[in-house]
Amino acid sequence: MDIIKNKIEALRKLLNEYNHQYYVLNAPTVSDQEFDMLLKELEALEATRPDLADPLSPTQRVGSDISKGFKQIKHIYPMLSLANTYSVAEVDDFVQRVKKEIINEDCTLVGEMKFDGTSISLIYENGRLIRAVTRGDGEQGDDVTANVKTIRSIPLQLQGDGWPERFEIRGEIVLPWEAFEKLNAEREFNSEPLFANPRNAASGTLKLLNPKEVSHRGLDAFFYYLLGENLPYDTHFENMQAARSWGFKVSEVMTRLRSIDDVEQYINHWDIARKELPVATDGLVFKVDNLRQQLNLGYTAKSPRWAIAYKFQAERALTKLKYVSFEVGRTGVVTPVANLEPVLLSGTIVKRASLHNADIIRSLDIHQGDMVYVEKGGEIIPKITGVDIAQRDDTAERVEFVTHCPSCGTPLVRIEGEAARICPDKYGCVPQIKGRIEHFVGRRMMNIDGIGEEMVNDLCERGYIKDCADLYSLTAEQIKSLYLKGEKIAEKILNGIEASKEVPFERVLFALSIPYVGETGAKKIARAVGSIDRLMAMSQEELMAIEDVGPNIARSIKEFFADERNLTIVERLRLAGVKLESEIADDQPMSNRLQGKSIVISGTFNRYSRDQYKALIEQHGGKNVGSISKKTDMVLGGENMGPAKLEKANSLNIPIIDEATFLKMIGEE
Ligand code: IVH
Repeated sequence: MDIIKNKIEALRKLLNEYNHQYYVLNAPTVSDQEFDMLLKELEALEATRPDLADPLSPTQRVGSDISKGFKQIKHIYPMLSLANTYSVAEVDDFVQRVKKEIINEDCTLVGEMKFDGTSISLIYENGRLIRAVTRGDGEQGDDVTANVKTIRSIPLQLQGDGWPERFEIRGEIVLPWEAFEKLNAEREFNSEPLFANPRNAASGTLKLLNPKEVSHRGLDAFFYYLLGENLPYDTHFENMQAARSWGFKVSEVMTRLRSIDDVEQYINHWDIARKELPVATDGLVFKVDNLRQQLNLGYTAKSPRWAIAYKFQAERALTKLKYVSFEVGRTGVVTPVANLEPVLLSGTIVKRASLHNADIIRSLDIHQGDMVYVEKGGEIIPKITGVDIAQRDDTAERVEFVTHCPSCGTPLVRIEGEAARICPDKYGCVPQIKGRIEHFVGRRMMNIDGIGEEMVNDLCERGYIKDCADLYSLTAEQIKSLYLKGEKIAEKILNGIEASKEVPFERVLFALSIPYVGETGAKKIARAVGSIDRLMAMSQEELMAIEDVGPNIARSIKEFFADERNLTIVERLRLAGVKLESEIADDQPMSNRLQGKSIVISGTFNRYSRDQYKALIEQHGGKNVGSISKKTDMVLGGENMGPAKLEKANSLNIPIIDEATFLKMIGEE
């Protein structure tokens, strides 16, 4: 008897059950601690038995760090959309139409929530999750299986019985309000753009290339349609109940409705009650319950004739515009903000709403003191969508975008082709200076613990820091002088500053606030160039050869490093010991693309150094050897390859691969 195998299987089964209780039923029967202990035990056992590895084991829910692009997969059944209406009368028309088509038969409908997330199609074979694909263009979508596996409420292995050997289940991936708000709070802290609504956050998260990151975001999923041959029941409702018994999260809100009255009551109830749900919804869906009737009703080119979506009205309130303020951000962009008489909207009091830019102000033709319509809809940041002109005072003046920086008075400039107005005084304008330092210390940048907006403010006001490099000469005395419990705070901050010297170059590059260089851009640039010195020496054309670097980014980088002040900051960061070049970690395998290959390196290279190539070969499963022999599989040949090596490789018929080809081989183009 294979005891370890039995133990592994039992633990997997138990942990799957606990996951289901926790994430689907919201009714855990064990403590988090106990769960973690069992998971660790399983991890340890699995480590001893690679032969029993299973990509669907509960230990695999955390996702790996390996980034992959998405493969395109064709849907077996196209993913259609739903006919929409905002009117109850049109839902009634739909019910009448359906009844007319299915004469002499009862017509039961199923009412359900229209979840506001991003749709997903899952394929199961023999009870195991095989693939997860996004809607894409309806015909084919992205293979996001690795990311979907990290969603704890999605069963990797089905429970119970009675599932067809192969089937597809469709549903909506959502980010519950709580997780959405947490994510946006973190993004705000890190000066990253906020997600406008949980739908964008869910689809953005699902498309992240790093499953590990996805696993931390708190996605969830509700399922609402089963497809395939040999489904267990002839009705949608029963099939969904069966799906629930197999472990899927199927909303309890799903109800059978037998008359127009039932339908109207359902609408009236959920129009209000949906606000209490933990996830965003944008309407209700009514489906014909009987599958045979569905089949008879069929499809139009775009949507099923057996279903209709009733969409909720976006909530709107009318309130008075008190005044428009103009705020300067880290990048100098000036944002107009409408300050309003407080008004209740979707359960929260709204006092401010974004007016976005000068073009929007003009198109709204907004005047001082106007009564304005504020909407939230699916958006979390309220916006002004209109003005009630009838209530406008004759003497009211039109709101004009400021011509000068509200903070430092410098005339604003407009970048060609863009709506934004910017204050160009990057180094004299206080909110920009503070904004850059706040950005620099943020979690995804230098992650300096303990310094937030307020402290940056205090340190700047005292004149202790004027730029990010000044942080590295802060003294404990300076920090202590600011706060009551200064001793402890100073220790924490100085430790954080010290630790930031270990932050990898790609994050340092992002932390520098080079206009247009965001987190992903900084990563790609850092990986492509390897060091700040090389980046500074590159021409605009060379910069544009980097993936995703267009003329704007290239110009912005050139301008940034043409400024003496930035060069001084870089030099001071260098002196402080901040990492200004990439290190390739040599402890983690990245792939097995070079598995078993014996590779000789010769010559000089552009993208990475020879040492970095050595590390890369190992990380992709290959072996770097010093001299060419019959056993060598290939030579990575750079510029000025030694003539002896060249001759030897040729005489032994060993392929010589150039740098670009090699990078392609390891998946880095
Ligand atoms: S049924 C052929 N049911 O709404 C069946 N869709 O506008 C089509 N959605 O792409 C889908 N909740 O992403 C259905 N309870 C629900 C839904 C739902 C949300 C989404 C789904 C679909 C879109 C259609």
